[in-house]
Amino acid sequence: MPSRQADFRRYLVPVDTVSTQQLFTDCLVIGGGVAGLRAAIEASNGCNVTIVCKGSFSDSNTWNAQGGVASVLASDDSIEEHIADTLKTGCGACDEDIVKLVVEQGPGLIRELVEWGTEFDKVNGEIDTTLEGGHSHARVIHIHGDSTGRGLAEALIRKVKQKSNINVIENFFTVDLITNEKNECIGVIGFREKEGFKIIWSSKTILATGGAGLLYRETTNPQGSTGDGIAMAYRAGAVLCDLEFMQFHPTTLYIAGASRALITETLRGEGAKLVDCNGKEFMQEYDTAGELAPRDVVSRAILDRMLKTNSTHVYLDIRHFDKKHFSKRFPLISELCESFDIDVSKDLIPVRPSAHYMIGGVKADAEGRSNIANLFVCGEAGATGLHGANRLGSNSLLEGLVFGKITGALAAKEVSAAGNSFKLCKMGYEVPASDRSRLDTADVRNSLRALMWRNVGITRKEQPLQEAQEIIRFWRRYVMDKVFDSPYGWECQNMLTVSLLMAQSAQNRKESRGVHFRSDHPVTDEKFACHIEVGCDEK
Ligand code: FUM
Repeated sequence: MPSRQADFRRYLVPVDTVSTQQLFTDCLVIGGGVAGLRAAIEASNGCNVTIVCKGSFSDSNTWNAQGGVASVLASDDSIEEHIADTLKTGCGACDEDIVKLVVEQGPGLIRELVEWGTEFDKVNGEIDTTLEGGHSHARVIHIHGDSTGRGLAEALIRKVKQKSNINVIENFFTVDLITNEKNECIGVIGFREKEGFKIIWSSKTILATGGAGLLYRETTNPQGSTGDGIAMAYRAGAVLCDLEFMQFHPTTLYIAGASRALITETLRGEGAKLVDCNGKEFMQEYDTAGELAPRDVVSRAILDRMLKTNSTHVYLDIRHFDKKHFSKRFPLISELCESFDIDVSKDLIPVRPSAHYMIGGVKADAEGRSNIANLFVCGEAGATGLHGANRLGSNSLLEGLVFGKITGALAAKEVSAAGNSFKLCKMGYEVPASDRSRLDTADVRNSLRALMWRNVGITRKEQPLQEAQEIIRFWRRYVMDKVFDSPYGWECQNMLTVSLLMAQSAQNRKESRGVHFRSDHPVTDEKFACHIEVGCDEK
């Protein structure tokens, strides 16, 4: 396991436990997506909870999720088949016990959500199920067509708001986890515009900070997905793993100058075709599963087609869809297309792949425990081995529900057993001031995202991966020693940290597996049937 980078800094801001505003909570949940919300609800059954999120609840990846939640509900489907599909898509890198645990808990958690008032779409009185790539059965369930994430989040938020022992703090940027000399997590230091820095002391902390799509120029993710949780856990001494596995979504709306927007895979599940700029269907040339091949295969096929036709994008063709049905089944996408004057009954939808889901993250066991005492992790920020080297579509909301519940329950149980003790400690941590010149943070962020897209993107090879690390190290020399006073700068530092570790991990995996494709090592190599971990070995 490689050691921390030479320019490593434990905290990004000074921590002064005497003069900073302080709050106390039994269980702190960081993150307001499905995993964080579900964790907060569960933990609140046994202790007081504070849930903080970086923006508002609507700024999460969960809120933007379109396709759905994968779960075995149809009578012709089975738990065994969902497990088999997850393992197959994961290309030999899944943890089978975790896969079993998550898939088995799915139907029960969906029933619970229904009891809590979640209105999954129905056909003839039964919850409707649809297809996505890699699923052998229609098992993706959805809410208000393509607003599944939002529907799910709204149901969970309603539940959170009914709980008088959950304190919600939105627009709270968590800068760092605070650990004591025994490397136990004892809380966080964070920042709120207008209020300044705040320390939240907690007996148990659950990290549910989501993904890192913003490390790439092209992404489906919202602005907040800058990998903060992964970076702060790394600074605190957490082991990270599988960072080379970034999943790219094949179909993001591509309109030059407009921000990228997800076009759900369920469109292909329901018959949409991919065509190149000459109007020619091409997926069968790459995989017999055609449009429903795994995402990595479809993304690479699209790139290849773009290259061969010298084009910046390909198209989704849904001209054969019934327009009325389409606008009812996919209202978000329908509106999106209309806003760009795309008449889906006549026009093709321009798309191309972009960074979508961070498979790697903070290493966690079957109980969501990290290697740091009192620190749990759930959802996209964690790496439990559920997804292996490639995530089966719509397994992520399911994972958030399952590990949110597991970590919340454990945190509450352990708080009660320990007698609700806050491990408040007196500490002062100074960050040395930088003597370097001014910095254009926006330029660093944009350049980093372009570099990651070019050098650590859908296809990788040795020399660009090496070059990416050299460039990032150079930027780190004058970014990491700065003491920023707002989220934009801290995000930049986090982005540089996570990007470097991702490029390192991608260089170390000298094979192709799932979403990690090395054009210089195009074949899967059993030598690499293992997880690549990064973390600190210095204490
Ligand atoms: O295409 C989609 O709707 C994405 C689903 C997912 O990433 O799970």
